[in-house]
Amino acid sequence: MQAQGEKWRQVMSWVVISTFLVVVMVPSPVIGARNCSFPAIFNFGDSNSDTGGLSAAFGQAPPPNGITFFQTPAGRFSDGRLIIDFLAQNLSLPYLSAYLDSVGSNFSNGANFATAGSTIRPQNTTKSQSGYSPISLDVQLIQYSDFKARSILVRKKGGVFMKLLPKEEYFSEALYTFDIGQNDLTAGYKLNMTTEQVKAYIPDVLGQFSDVIRSVYKEGGRSFWIHNTGPLGCLPYTLDRYPMSVAQMDKFGCAKPFNEVAQYFNSRLKETVVQLRKEVPEAIIVYVDVYTVKYNLISHAKKYGFEKGVIACCGQGGKYNFNNVARCGATKIVNGKKIIIAKSCKDPSVKIIWDGIHYTEASNKWIFQQIVNGYFSDPPISLIKNGLPCPWE
Ligand SMILES: *[C@@H]1O[C@H](CO)[C@@H](O)[C@H](O)[C@H]1NC(C)=O
Ligand SMILES: *[C@@H]1O[C@H](CO)[C@@H](O)[C@H](O)[C@H]1NC(C)=O
Ligand SMILES: *[C@@H]1O[C@H](CO)[C@@H](O)[C@H](O)[C@H]1NC(C)=O
Ligand SMILES: *[C@@H]1O[C@H](CO)[C@@H](O)[C@H](O)[C@H]1NC(C)=O
Ligand SMILES: *[C@@H]1O[C@H](CO)[C@@H](O)[C@H](O)[C@H]1NC(C)=O
Repeated sequence: MQAQGEKWRQVMSWVVISTFLVVVMVPSPVIGARNCSFPAIFNFGDSNSDTGGLSAAFGQAPPPNGITFFQTPAGRFSDGRLIIDFLAQNLSLPYLSAYLDSVGSNFSNGANFATAGSTIRPQNTTKSQSGYSPISLDVQLIQYSDFKARSILVRKKGGVFMKLLPKEEYFSEALYTFDIGQNDLTAGYKLNMTTEQVKAYIPDVLGQFSDVIRSVYKEGGRSFWIHNTGPLGCLPYTLDRYPMSVAQMDKFGCAKPFNEVAQYFNSRLKETVVQLRKEVPEAIIVYVDVYTVKYNLISHAKKYGFEKGVIACCGQGGKYNFNNVARCGATKIVNGKKIIIAKSCKDPSVKIIWDGIHYTEASNKWIFQQIVNGYFSDPPISLIKNGLPCPWE
């Protein structure tokens, strides 16, 4: 009995010691882990990160979109590159092909499921009724799952498929980026809801967002980079549609109620991320406060080399150079010839807002430079190549 008790004690102390060792040796997700080199990016979102999805399915973003960098429309609602383009570039990866784009695409280093006008929740209105893309986040998830399964299968055929599709291991090693939610907020206002009513459905929106993160995790995704939503009240699109009283405007020309609802969404999103981290402990989920960066830019425009004011660069005139029925690139037939009536301003490089809804390439570049170092991230880790720890190792 005694000997057995002794043995038991020995076993127990070994168990305790080895448990201790395991705990000590498992790298903390933030400190000490080997840094990651992401071989691919899979992006989900709306127009803030659409590199050609909506254009492929519903018609190309018209000129002068693309004028600054691509010199031709390039599926982006901007004069040039988006934050996601600067991100890919910074990770030494090619610009992301849109999943829906069947011509000239190369998915070796990832795919982009974002489409302009996408919401997290599927809408109960059609695109022609409300303008929102039917490719909501749940649909993007289906496309991603299908893309993953089929890539793995088709790549085995070899040949050209090896040069167009990601390696199987890239799906777990990739960076998964998300920039979506803004359209879920405007969707309620479009249905004439009050701010209270909009706030009331935010938990449902974020519940559906969480479902998607969990699903990507189940598929093997481990590194998540989530942008919060920008200052909605600073967009000409919002300001034009919902005229505000003087008291509702801040000193930078933004509508306070809309910025408040965006911030409300963001604080709930941040809580959602905290909750998700508990559910998917093997993942690293970075919450990036893009709102603050965009608002800093708008409120200190001059300091950062931009012109003051939330006036669109590309438009047709009016208080905000924005007309919802003749947006950037709108045309008119004059003497049998099609001419663009909503044109680019002379120098988009000093304008913050491009078309009343989206930012210029110059802004996007500035915003990216602010977030890349992790100063606006929670946890405050950098994205610079080899900067983010590797959760799968
Ligand atoms: C990534 O961005 C950082 C910060 O702006 C910069 O120092 C670095 O050179 C960039 N790397 C690449 C490969 O573009
Ligand atoms: C669409 O309608 C269904 C059924 O009434 C409802 O549960 C859902 O919340 C609605 N979605 C949106 C985005 O309003
Ligand atoms: C696709 O891109 C990858 C990586 O940039 C490259 O190695 C490959 O050759 C490209 N595929 C084709 C068909 O050009
Ligand atoms: C919202 O209100 C406007 C103005 O009263 C009206 O024209 C529009 O039909 C309403 N939209 C919905 C979806 O009820
Ligand atoms: C990870 O990258 C950071 C800089 O982004 C660097 O300070 C750190 O030493 C790197 N860690 C390892 C293990 O390479």
